[in-house]
Amino acid sequence: MFARYELITIIRLNMIISQDTTIIITGASSGIGYSLALQCAERKAKVALLARRFERLSELSDKVYEMGGQALPIRCDITKSKEVEASIDAIIERFGTIDILINNAGRGYTASVEHTTDEDIRSMFEVNAFSLWYATRKALPIMRIHNKGTIVTVSSVAGRMGFPFNSAYVAAKHAAIGFHAGLTAELAGTNIRSLVICPDGVETEWAQVTENAPIGDLFSKGIRYSREIAREKNMPLSPLARMKSPDDIARIIIEGIENDTSPLDIFTHEGSYERSVLAVRDRNEQVNAMYPLYAGMQKAYSENK
Ligand SMILES: NC(=O)c1ccc[n+]([C@@H]2O[C@H](COP(=O)([O-])OP(=O)(O)OC[C@H]3O[C@@H](n4cnc5c(N)ncnc54)[C@H](OP(=O)(O)O)[C@@H]3O)[C@@H](O)[C@H]2O)c1
Repeated sequence: MFARYELITIIRLNMIISQDTTIIITGASSGIGYSLALQCAERKAKVALLARRFERLSELSDKVYEMGGQALPIRCDITKSKEVEASIDAIIERFGTIDILINNAGRGYTASVEHTTDEDIRSMFEVNAFSLWYATRKALPIMRIHNKGTIVTVSSVAGRMGFPFNSAYVAAKHAAIGFHAGLTAELAGTNIRSLVICPDGVETEWAQVTENAPIGDLFSKGIRYSREIAREKNMPLSPLARMKSPDDIARIIIEGIENDTSPLDIFTHEGSYERSVLAVRDRNEQVNAMYPLYAGMQKAYSENK
């Protein structure tokens, strides 16, 4: 029998985004990160914008200023720890502090397990997992000084359940959730929160810029084939979440940051929480439910080999 303890009540300071808030957004040059930057600018915040495509960051920075915020665009390859450290030093020098770190940069690839190379595995873990430590271990000490802050990690529903032909991405996004779980345990009792975001499909460049081939094409073809497969096997169609826009996801992330009582693990699409729980409770059942899509993607992949 375990002893019963009173739950610790943490009095949190509100994290309302305003002109006094400094936010780092990795992967700000497109998609969710770009939308986040604009929504933070609406609140007049100070945003540090990190990515490799500097021209895009520079244009975004101009927009942030036009909207009344402040911006610091920085060319940074998030997979290079020294570049990340130097970027964060420059942010502290410019804005004095860090209130929110949004670990959003990420990238997928397309290959079966048999075709996944050493380089694919390394690249997926470097960008989607290792980078989380590079940025967080440098930003967290500043948050600890003020005992205030939020660290957001954009994982994926692929961090909770499997999708075919991007196993190293799926594994790295599971690692991102492990990172959040370990960090949350270290932050227990403090006024610093770690949030993890698990989006399903979002209308961004992501599905077209995957390494090797666009996974978006494989999904589209797989979905088409899944209808025939479901009919032939007399099965229901695989449950798929309706795509969302990057603005929708940015709004959900900001709500999570500003609402101190939000769950620490945030699912952005209808049904993805339930599918993720099913994957933990009974993966066989979860795979059966997704079978028409998985088989459709297998057919599409074998045609393109
Ligand atoms: N779109 C979806 O369906 C979906 C679903 C679930 C989760 N997610 C996750 O959501 C996050 C944002 O993706 P998105 O959908 O907004 O896709 P996106 O439009 O392709 O944006 C990805 C961002 O990551 C940056 N990035 C990639 N590699 C980088 C590197 N080595 N160093 C620095 N920045 C890098 C890109 O900038 P540069 O290329 O300029 O460096 C870009 O700004 C990712 O973590 C992704 O895995 C997306």
